[in-house]
Amino acid sequence: MLKHLYRSSILHFLSDPDINGHDAYEFFEDGALIVVDGKVVDCGAANALMTAHQDAEIIDYQGKLIIPGMIDTHIHFPQCEVIASYGEQLLDWLNNFTFPAERQFEDKDYASHIANFFLDELLKCGTTTAMVFGTVHKQSVDAFFEASQKRNTRMICGKVMMDRNAPEFLVDTPECAYTDSKELIERWHEKGRQLYAVTPRFAITSTNEQLDKAGQLLKQYPSVYLQTHISENKDEVAFVQSLFPAAQDYLDVYDHFGLLGRRSVFAHGIHLQPREHKRLRETGASVSFCPTSNLFLGSGLLDVATLEKEQVAYSIATDVGGGTSFSMLQTLNEAYKVCQLQGQKLSPLKSLYLATLGNAKTLELDDKIGSFKRGNEADFAVLDFNSTPLMTLKQSRCKTLDEKLFAMIILGDDRAIAATYVAGKCAHSKLTSI
Ligand code: GUN
Ligand code: ZN
Repeated sequence: MLKHLYRSSILHFLSDPDINGHDAYEFFEDGALIVVDGKVVDCGAANALMTAHQDAEIIDYQGKLIIPGMIDTHIHFPQCEVIASYGEQLLDWLNNFTFPAERQFEDKDYASHIANFFLDELLKCGTTTAMVFGTVHKQSVDAFFEASQKRNTRMICGKVMMDRNAPEFLVDTPECAYTDSKELIERWHEKGRQLYAVTPRFAITSTNEQLDKAGQLLKQYPSVYLQTHISENKDEVAFVQSLFPAAQDYLDVYDHFGLLGRRSVFAHGIHLQPREHKRLRETGASVSFCPTSNLFLGSGLLDVATLEKEQVAYSIATDVGGGTSFSMLQTLNEAYKVCQLQGQKLSPLKSLYLATLGNAKTLELDDKIGSFKRGNEADFAVLDFNSTPLMTLKQSRCKTLDEKLFAMIILGDDRAIAATYVAGKCAHSKLTSI
């Protein structure tokens, strides 16, 4: 039995700090995290834990901050190279840049190359779990899960289902979307740390028959996830209305086919109406807030305060390649600004709660990841308060924990991640001594 004691400042959440204030988190200035066989055994003040665990090998990260590995609830691995595509809003951006790029994933070797690149980028940014779109090609999802399995990362992924309003080279059929998804679920869902998400791209690119197949899969496999897009862009919403004239609204299209539930994640949700908020709350489905994408594609500002008021579950995500950074710190930075533009506040504690335990809760994974509760999987990131000269200068002027965390969020990116651990194993390190 190998026991490790990581000595560092430690921060993790027990609940939502907007609700429970100081009782919502534990912070140990001189703290220790004890890990045995990839699991958290204890977390607390260094003095006490060093006495209690004298048999542990000590890894010294004093001066840094350990937080749980960050979680990204919406991202597209085949869009690494789509990032920073100029000049278009959603529908033209998909047609001009995204669909041609996704065509390449027909080639499994290419898909493997990009899947490995993608996972390395996430780990460099301190992200250890993500909910990920593949492409329409089932081999893209095999490539992704094979790469994730190798790293032992906890990942959720699914084959995109799309059978209309897309180029001929990128469409499937209701039947093959069903059989391919079923085959992938049988092969990957709950294999090691891998989890499957049924993935209709959005209402525009699926027929009634295909959405019905998605609903059937969710019925047959109640523990799999559902991921899709909703109400991101006004032209998209109008198009959906024209395709589904009988639906009450956008969410109703998905609802009709049984796609709403506690494991359903709807990316964006910027232009949702009160009835849709009510229905999300009733079903426990969540919205994934993608600030860098929403700004980059000119989609709009998500009204986070209304989601809070209406008790709609929400998480936070990068949405690369509509999003512009793999870093959840940069994503929180832009989320702060989206809130500012609407006269709303997103505190640093709430931000880091969202990126860890909050996101884990929306994925129903908080019994495994997102905090340092005993028995959880030991995924964590080591943050460096001296990652750049500017970070060092600013941190030296910060007096409180809130100020330090806020500066970390606004100035931090992949350079601020000193190391990332996956199930107790170092998966990325900027330090040569580790
Ligand atoms: N809506 C449908 N497909 C996509 C996609 O790939 N990215 C974003 N941002 N929105 C979508
Ligand atoms: Zn997306």
